[in-house]
Amino acid sequence: MVTHVSTVAFSGIEAVAVDVQAQISSGLPAFTVVGLPDKAVAESRERVRSALTAIGLALPPKRITVNLAPADLPKEGSHFDLPIVLALMGALGVIPADALSRYAVLGELSLDGSITYVAGALPAAMGASGRGLGLICPEACGAEAAWAGDRLDVLAPENLIQLVNHFKGSQVLSRPRPAKADDAAPLPDLCDIKGQESARRALEIAAAGAHNLLMVGPPGAGKSMLAQRLPSILPPMAAEEMLEVSMIASVAGELKGGRLSPRRPFREPHHSASQAAMVGGGQRARPGEMALAHNGVLFMDEFPEFLPKVLESLRQPMESAATVIARANHHVTYPARFQLVAAMNPCKCGRAGEPGYTCRRGARCADDYQARLSGPLLDRIDLRIEVPAVRASDLIAATPGEASAPVAARVAEARERQRARFRALGLRDMRTNADLGGDLLDEVTRPEPQGVKLLHQAAEQMQLSARGLHRVLRVARTIADLGGREDVTRIDIAEALSYRHLVNGVSAAA
Ligand SMILES: Nc1ncnc2c1ncn2[C@@H]1O[C@H](COP(=O)(O)OP(=O)(O)O)[C@@H](O)[C@H]1O
Ligand SMILES: [Mg+2]
Repeated sequence: MVTHVSTVAFSGIEAVAVDVQAQISSGLPAFTVVGLPDKAVAESRERVRSALTAIGLALPPKRITVNLAPADLPKEGSHFDLPIVLALMGALGVIPADALSRYAVLGELSLDGSITYVAGALPAAMGASGRGLGLICPEACGAEAAWAGDRLDVLAPENLIQLVNHFKGSQVLSRPRPAKADDAAPLPDLCDIKGQESARRALEIAAAGAHNLLMVGPPGAGKSMLAQRLPSILPPMAAEEMLEVSMIASVAGELKGGRLSPRRPFREPHHSASQAAMVGGGQRARPGEMALAHNGVLFMDEFPEFLPKVLESLRQPMESAATVIARANHHVTYPARFQLVAAMNPCKCGRAGEPGYTCRRGARCADDYQARLSGPLLDRIDLRIEVPAVRASDLIAATPGEASAPVAARVAEARERQRARFRALGLRDMRTNADLGGDLLDEVTRPEPQGVKLLHQAAEQMQLSARGLHRVLRVARTIADLGGREDVTRIDIAEALSYRHLVNGVSAAA
């Protein structure tokens, strides 16, 4: 007789159904696992045997075969331990097989029979719920699995004994509660920043329309400081966005204590980060920084210092809002709709543009440094601003800058205006102006006649390309949204044009 237990394999954040089949038959004693198991899955035989011994069960000296179907899908990770052991316990009659058929199962076993944390419980729970099943997962994953819905039956035992007792009815496991992260710790606040009025304004616009932002300025101007204060003015995530973000974090094993937070992710990879760390990859095709920044901010400080390969790999996710990891025989896709905030010095020594300073290497210092950023990459950054050194008079002045709370309120209002507009047009998957493409842009911007005239002049003088024009209009739309105007005025367009700082000879045209 064959016992079946449902489990999952992960392809990105998607949980693909896998059927674990166990058969105990007469023949020479053997224990084999088939169905494209990786090393961790093949080793699960030893953990299963020991865990069974620990709870006083022994595998019979018979031929034991475990098959993971579909057989051509690669199975990676240690979460197959628990479904395998449960399928065997079903075959041995320790747990009624029909009780097991109501659940999808995942978890790793210790030699002593305890069940330990595995990554991916949230997407597994969502998958199980979609198939009308409950979920059996480790106790440490219970809080995160419980988020998949009130009606999902979740069993989160600490060890095998508890699970056996639950099915025997002698100790009932209670449903774990979904846990929310404690967001009491305050975020860095904008009031710490003195002066830098124009950079603050650009940050507010970037937040309001989820536009990508590049800040160029000398060291110590406060670029890193500004970027780190962006999360404090971004609106919290909606429930659906929070779930998307948490699924990615869950697969990466980064959902601390299974607690979900409505705060937008803020990822700050070091400039030495490898391509695999940024895009994702390695064992089990883990998500990279770009996917982990989904619905939030990817802050790349010292932008030109990143590996050229990494910089170029940004282009595709910025366009398609997803990262694709190529494996031997399939592709893994993660959502990656992030807002890029980049900061850089104008040149290697960081002193270009300083009054009275001439670099030993002349203009080449700045040219070489900025040339590390390709045109197509810069082209995808809507806002490019210069952050000058902070003035001594501003620093010494006792008056603090505007705090984050009122700015956040304006940003939230502007975003609500965008959402209402998209909803009126029946575009449910559009969230911010940064998602606006060409056709739609014309429909939603309609600048006033004087604005159109200015745009024509600018297009000629600054040699704006069609794409460049779209970018200006998109930012102008956000500026108007921030000001509460339905029509885009000439002033909005003039301001949008001012955020096209020249980098690497890529002029305002791009
Ligand atoms: N506008 C500012 N207001 C207050 N302090 C500032 C400002 N700009 C810079 N500083 C101070 O200078 C330090 C360095 O700023 P940082 O953001 O790291 O500069 P950058 O990233 O531009 O090199 C900050 O930690 C802060 O103490
Ligand atoms: Mg810095």
